[in-house]
Amino acid sequence: METITLGKNVPTVPPLCIGTWAWGDKLFWNYGSDYGPEQLQAAFTAALEAGVTFFDTAEVYGMGLSEKFLGQFIKQTTQPVQVATKFGPLPWRFTGQSVSDALTESLKRLQLERIELYQVHWPFAFFLSQETLMNTLADEVQRGRIAAVGVSNYSAAQMREAHQILAVRGVPLAVNQVRYSLLTRQVESSGIIATARELGVTILAYSPLAQGLLTGKYTPENLEKLSGARKIDPKFGKEGLEKIAPVISLLREIGEKRDRTPAQVALNWLIAQGNVIPIAGVKTAEQVKQNAGALGWTLNNDEIAEIEKITRPWLN
Ligand SMILES: NC(=O)c1ccc[n+]([C@@H]2O[C@H](COP(=O)([O-])OP(=O)(O)OC[C@H]3O[C@@H](n4cnc5c(N)ncnc54)[C@H](OP(=O)(O)O)[C@@H]3O)[C@@H](O)[C@H]2O)c1
Repeated sequence: METITLGKNVPTVPPLCIGTWAWGDKLFWNYGSDYGPEQLQAAFTAALEAGVTFFDTAEVYGMGLSEKFLGQFIKQTTQPVQVATKFGPLPWRFTGQSVSDALTESLKRLQLERIELYQVHWPFAFFLSQETLMNTLADEVQRGRIAAVGVSNYSAAQMREAHQILAVRGVPLAVNQVRYSLLTRQVESSGIIATARELGVTILAYSPLAQGLLTGKYTPENLEKLSGARKIDPKFGKEGLEKIAPVISLLREIGEKRDRTPAQVALNWLIAQGNVIPIAGVKTAEQVKQNAGALGWTLNNDEIAEIEKITRPWLN
C-alpha cells in the first residue's frame, strides 16, 4: 500500500486513518445500544486485514474507553499499528508537567510506551501558553514517547505559530487535524489548506463522510434509522437531506461507473487533494471494508473537477 510521511519527518502511515471517537462514546454516538465491543474488535481486525493500520483516538473519546479498546486490540496483534491520540488543554492543565502527565495516562490506557502522533485537540488552552505546550511536546519527542507532534482545529495563524515554536526546537509540526469533507470545505477558503502545504504540514480530515451523510444511506424516508445526537441535527432533517441530494447523486453516478460507493468516491476526492489523510469514523467491519475501498485507485481530473464544482456552496 502507498504510504504518507507525516509532515516533513517520520512516521509513515497509510493514506487513510480509522476514526475511533464512537468507540465507547455514548454522549454523541450510541455505543452500547447500536454496537458494542465485538463489533469494534471486528472493525479493528478488518482494518488490519485491509492494511489500514493508522488509528485516531483521543483521551476524551468515551472518557478514555476509546484508547482502552485500541490498547486491548493492539495487544492481540503482532502487526505494526500507528496510533494518534490527543491532549485536551483543559483549564486546570496549565503546566508542562500536566501535558506530560496526560500523555502518561493515555499511554497507560493504550498499553504502549510510544505513539506515532500526539495532537493538541483544540487551540484554546486557558492558562497554558502555546510556548509551554509546544516545548513540552518537543521534549516528549526527544524523550521518545511520541514520534511526531500535531495540532487540531488550529486556524492558519495558530498553525503557523505552533510551527514556529517547534521549529526552534528542530521538531516539525506534522499535522493539523481539521473538519474537512465535501460538505465542509471551509478549510480551503480560510487558508488552512494553503498554509499547511506551505509549511509541509499534513492535513488529517475529520468527519470526512460528514458523519454519514456522504454515504448516501440517509434519506427523508429512513430517518428513524438515525441514532444519537444526529437525530436533532438539521443537516440530517428533510430539508438538509434535500439540499445535499445533487451531491449524493453525482457521487453515486461517478461511483457506479467505477463500481464504487458514494463514500468511497467522497474519501477518494479528499485523498486526491494531496497532503490530506481522511479519518473515517467506523463502528463495524463492513464500514471499514467499504472505506478501505477508497484506496488503490484515483478519480480522474474531470471527475475531481465536477465534484469540486457541485460542492462549491460548501466552501463557506
Ligand atoms: N479533532 C477533532 O476535533 C475531531 C472531531 C470529530 C471527529 N474527529 C475524528 O474523526 C473521526 C471521524 O469523524 P466522525 O466520526 O465525526 O465522522 P465521519 O467519519 O464523517 O462519519 C462516521 C460515521 O459515518 C457512518 N459510516 C462510516 N463509514 C460508513 C460506511 N462505509 N457506510 C455507511 N456508514 C458509514 C458511521 O455512522 P452510522 O453507521 O451511525 O451512520 C460512522 O460512525 C472520529 O472518529 C475522530 O477520530 C476529530
